[in-house]
Amino acid sequence: MARNFPSTRVAGLDLNDKALKLAELNASLAGVHVDFACSDLYSSLPDLLDGTDVEVIISNPPYIASSTSISGSVPIYSDGGASLGLDVSIRIVKEGSQFLARGGILLLYTGVTILAKSPGQDPFLEWVKSRKEYELLDYRIYHPDMWPEEIGKGVYADAARIQVVGIVLQKQ
Ligand SMILES: C[S@@+](CC[C@H](N)C(=O)[O-])C[C@H]1O[C@@H](n2cnc3c(N)ncnc32)[C@H](O)[C@@H]1O
Repeated sequence: MARNFPSTRVAGLDLNDKALKLAELNASLAGVHVDFACSDLYSSLPDLLDGTDVEVIISNPPYIASSTSISGSVPIYSDGGASLGLDVSIRIVKEGSQFLARGGILLLYTGVTILAKSPGQDPFLEWVKSRKEYELLDYRIYHPDMWPEEIGKGVYADAARIQVVGIVLQKQ
């Protein structure tokens, strides 16, 4: 983003110091300027913004729920939280709208658990469609069954699959 839009201010937010250090190195090797900040979702954003609105939010959050087969040792930064790992994604959509300019875009890449009892139902798609503050521009399935090894275990006992989706929302 910083390279393609050199006149745009770009901020990179993450909770994990190691991820931020790696991203800083990446930006420096790419020869671009990015304002990195340690932040629980958007918590550091007001300090970076000086009252301006954001035109684009891009997020690739964790979406695997804690209490899975790999849990017990799931660190906070790789835990998508409750609602079968959707909590962080839900917060990104809900809380992001207060920072986005009208017409601004939120791009989200996340995973949605499809339950065995309702294989044709995507609960996240239903939820984003119901958001009044956004128009849903695109909802694309990138992988229908991304983590088959998690299915049937722990909180995924009743799951059929975890599908990975890309979502484009426009602030109204
Ligand atoms: C799938 S990785 C994506 C890393 C990088 N942003 C990218 O797109 O390549 C998910 C990242 O979300 C971060 N993360 C998890 N929970 C977070 C939170 N509450 N606030 C900010 N970052 C969080 C993790 O530390 C991790 O680096």
